[in-house]
Amino acid sequence: MSADVILGAQWGDEGKGKIVDLFSEQYDVIVRYQGGANAGHTVIVGKDKYVMHLLPSGVLHKNKMNIIGHGVVLDMESLVGEIEGLQKRGISISPRNLLISENASIVLPYHKLIDKAKEEKKKGGKKIGTTGRGIGPAYTDKYVRIGVRLRDMFNNETLLAKIEENLEEKNFLLKNFYGQKELAAAQVAKEAKKFAKKLKPYMANTLSVLNNLLKKGKKVLFEGAQGALLDIDFGTYPYVTSSNPTIGGVMTGSGVSHRLIKKVWGITKAYQTRVGNGPFPTELDEELGSKIREAGGEYGATTGRARRCGWLDLVALKYVCELNGLSDILLTKIDVLSILKDIKVCTHYIYKGRKTQDFVSDGEELYTVKPVYKSLKGWGSDLTKARKYSDLPKAAKAYIKFIEDYTGVKVSMVSVGPERDQILKA
Ligand code: IMP
Repeated sequence: MSADVILGAQWGDEGKGKIVDLFSEQYDVIVRYQGGANAGHTVIVGKDKYVMHLLPSGVLHKNKMNIIGHGVVLDMESLVGEIEGLQKRGISISPRNLLISENASIVLPYHKLIDKAKEEKKKGGKKIGTTGRGIGPAYTDKYVRIGVRLRDMFNNETLLAKIEENLEEKNFLLKNFYGQKELAAAQVAKEAKKFAKKLKPYMANTLSVLNNLLKKGKKVLFEGAQGALLDIDFGTYPYVTSSNPTIGGVMTGSGVSHRLIKKVWGITKAYQTRVGNGPFPTELDEELGSKIREAGGEYGATTGRARRCGWLDLVALKYVCELNGLSDILLTKIDVLSILKDIKVCTHYIYKGRKTQDFVSDGEELYTVKPVYKSLKGWGSDLTKARKYSDLPKAAKAYIKFIEDYTGVKVSMVSVGPERDQILKA
């Protein structure tokens, strides 16, 4: 019985989709446990590009069970679209390879309206820059115990009563505070049921399914969404998402014991990016930042937004390693840095006049830190053709070694491009 975890070690967009797809070969079950359709996991197979928002990235492999755990907030319309889109492309998706927790919380249209209206109302710097997918409001409802869950979709009376109760408050807010149109409960319920009907065959007690599969000796891979620095508890609050992309989210979002977890892989890019607002100590100026953005294709898979780019922040990475007990680091997109002569990494912050290696997780305080850099030699050559670790130039190996020495965690794999074969074992 064992399970491994892949989680984002930065602010998301570390390339987890490709890695989960790649690792899926060695696992029987792939599980999404938190987040929602705010995620955008990209997988490239030959000339084909797939972007998954809610589906585990294992769906592209035959004979794998994919599970969406109850920690996920489910945008049914988005999920139905994803399933049907992949089916049209010849990918087989059925309850034989996809199950969704009956207790997953549902994202309803009012969540998205409130998410967007809330953002619009915030003044400049206070905006979070959310994806507008209703994530915060849906998790809010879950935690104030008024959320609608997948199982509620199939009980007409409960569903309508819950939506009516919710809309009593939400319509007041929408109309009087946000100046929006009110929604009609019956209409919301009708629309929701239309999508729920398509998802009903997939609904299951995934907690029991998952634990039974583990008992049978099946290998499970947990696929994190977003990244540790966006964690609601440990990220750069309030510039975070509303779930736990850190290790605790695996247990609370799936119902699997921590005792079964063996490897915890932290995926990090060789540089740093952030999409949306919030502090970013190592952010580069527009000239160098846009050079990296273009070389790395740094545009959001969900919203198409340009990602902010910066130097690798080792202070933050070490914090993430310790917080999650990372067993291994998987370094992605090191090939993008080939365009640079010199590369910097942040080794310390100056915070309140003191030099420190302690991460500052408070979002407002993090704005006040000054990064201290170490310059490392660039390698200036194309890495995308490397297929073995020994193919890497000396300077690239030294860069990797610096990360390992600083964090105390082995960089066990390095990715040098989006294709399945562009991965090197150290
Ligand atoms: P929300 O999750 O849509 O509420 O957005 C909150 C913050 O998390 C915003 O800064 C988003 O840009 C960021 N975010 C949410 N999902 C992702 C993701 O999958 N990758 C990167 N950033 C994300």
